[in-house]
Amino acid sequence: MLDTLHTVPVVASSDLETDVHGTFARYRPAYPFVALDTGGYVILRHEDVSRLLLDPRLQATGTAIPAQAGMSEGALFDIFEQGMLTANADAHARRRSGLSRALAQQVSEEFRQHVRRSAAALIDAYRDGATLDLAADYAAKLPILALAGLLGVPEPDVPTFMQDIHAMDEFFRPHPTEQAVADAEQAARRLRNYLEDLVQAAENNPSEGFLSRYIRLSQEDDVTRLELLVQIVQLIIGGTESVRTGLVAQAVHLLSEPEQWQAVCEDLTLVPNAVAEGLRFEPGIAGVVRVSVEDIEIDGWVLPAGQLVLLSFMSALRDERVFERPHAFDISRSNLKLARLAFGGGAHRCVADALGRAELEEGPSALVERLPNLRLEGRPDFQGHMFVRKTTECRVSWQP
Ligand code: HEM
Repeated sequence: MLDTLHTVPVVASSDLETDVHGTFARYRPAYPFVALDTGGYVILRHEDVSRLLLDPRLQATGTAIPAQAGMSEGALFDIFEQGMLTANADAHARRRSGLSRALAQQVSEEFRQHVRRSAAALIDAYRDGATLDLAADYAAKLPILALAGLLGVPEPDVPTFMQDIHAMDEFFRPHPTEQAVADAEQAARRLRNYLEDLVQAAENNPSEGFLSRYIRLSQEDDVTRLELLVQIVQLIIGGTESVRTGLVAQAVHLLSEPEQWQAVCEDLTLVPNAVAEGLRFEPGIAGVVRVSVEDIEIDGWVLPAGQLVLLSFMSALRDERVFERPHAFDISRSNLKLARLAFGGGAHRCVADALGRAELEEGPSALVERLPNLRLEGRPDFQGHMFVRKTTECRVSWQP
């Protein structure tokens, strides 16, 4: 006999804001999911999150989330209506296909070299000083420079490109103010117009670069012009916030464990382990939101149809059934492969995970090589437990 929904605890969002890892850890051993006082449910365990990512009874949310916020049009709304991330079935496959094939052909060594040069240049701009804010001065800029390289944004355009991306991304972070939403809408509009110019230039002068390849491949899939531009915008959204938080997380946790930082400084082949453990410990994307289209039974409890459901990577990646000492940062874990859940799964699995991984590997490598005596001056807060996360200032210092 199935238990009823009444037995599933309701968790206060304020508890998640104060101590998200502690709150999930309290419920995870006894319950596969909990309800949120703001509505919706959170799936807590690694096995269930991994399985439900593939379950057709959970669907992408379309325009439900902007509609809840009272939006029905505009450049931000189009991101939900025309983008792959929120689309299902055929529309999703059609929008994703060209982008995915163009990225698969991306010469990854060339991309890595570009990220490496950008990381070195960012550090060198501060090297004569003795301190920087790792979050704003480094981690927020590196992924945008990587995207500028990928898309072929000319050097003089990069500052405006960066400014508009920062403003647009505010909309997707936890708790944007009304002003931030209005600014994000303007920035998303400017960015789309700019991308239209970039696409036209690539059409007039085709090359072997990523953008020309993507334009060519998207024509095979009957992608409209608006869809094409929105998929590039989604590439930008997907490729900035996740990497930014990931870069801060791995640096902070390595620097907080001097033996592990030292081990990486002495042996750069440990960087991929540090990247995986960083993603496990504080994933850049907290989880993914879906809508249930049928009742779903999990271990005797019923998740009802018609609800928003958060598949929580933050919880799953600290599941004590899977990870020993889940709240310890340890780059020598034997099952770090399981941290790949941080890139999602199923049809929407990160379309650019290879690029993300390259950025997360090159970012700390540049720090280790150029500033080996780096010190953490204060730990940042990691905020957000639904989708994109953000960090506060992360001041580091070194002896010049
Ligand atoms: C640390 C790095 C990254 C992490 C942790 C990450 C994580 C994720 C996750 C969890 C999803 C699945 C979303 C869902 O199922 O709803 C996703 C999708 C996506 N990611 Fe990433 N990502 C990273 C880097 C990147 C980069 C560098 C780019 C672009 C250059 C990118 C672009 C995208 C796009 C466009 C999607 C949508 C795919 C689809 O809906 O089919 N991501 N990512």
